[in-house]
Amino acid sequence: MNKNLLSGGLAIIAIVIAIMNYISIAELNSNIKENPNGNAQGNKLEDEEDEHYELAKAMGYLQTFSHKLYLAGENENWELSEFYAHEIEETIEEIEEAKVVDEGYDISKLVGTMTNPSFEKVEKSIYEKDVKAFTDSYKLLVQSCNACHQTTKHQFIKIDIPKNKGIFNQDFGQ
Ligand code: HEC
Repeated sequence: MNKNLLSGGLAIIAIVIAIMNYISIAELNSNIKENPNGNAQGNKLEDEEDEHYELAKAMGYLQTFSHKLYLAGENENWELSEFYAHEIEETIEEIEEAKVVDEGYDISKLVGTMTNPSFEKVEKSIYEKDVKAFTDSYKLLVQSCNACHQTTKHQFIKIDIPKNKGIFNQDFGQ
């Protein structure tokens, strides 16, 4: 290939790259102008998320974690039980912080009040590695879930002690 042609080609490529850079910087500038606080849009999204906090999603986590907690505890796998108890605790705290009011019921206020007494017993049984105390307190925990579902007119959501063991692709043994 002719040397001049090659360097001419390279120069064109360099110009194209320079133009592309210029365009993206110009775009960035106009974004900043439209959105002077930088993260204003981000905050707006967050606010919307708070308003539409998906309680059902958090409840789904509570369901999964409490199911897995049972399978772990029943197998006297205390390390794993502690992990799921911690996940439940975090989910409850998240619901408390989200200030959720569902059809007039202050879920954020109720969730700790209703679950804490039994949940603390579950935690103690894990700490003491006491499988009998674990299954007994677990029943109370499930009752507290259902008590709130009844109180908040969701009595059709009935949580039960896990009866089947095979739905998770996970080994709950020690
Ligand atoms: C403070 C009240 C309260 C407590 C305590 C509570 N729930 Fe709920 N739960 C609700 C409400 C209200 C809904 C309906 C949410 C909605 O309307 O989106 C719900 C919905 C659910 C659902 C349906 C969503 C789904 O994914 O199928 C499940 C499952 C559930 N809860 C599980 C639990 C479990 C497990 C516990 C206990 C560890 C628990 N809940 C404790 C109030 C509560």
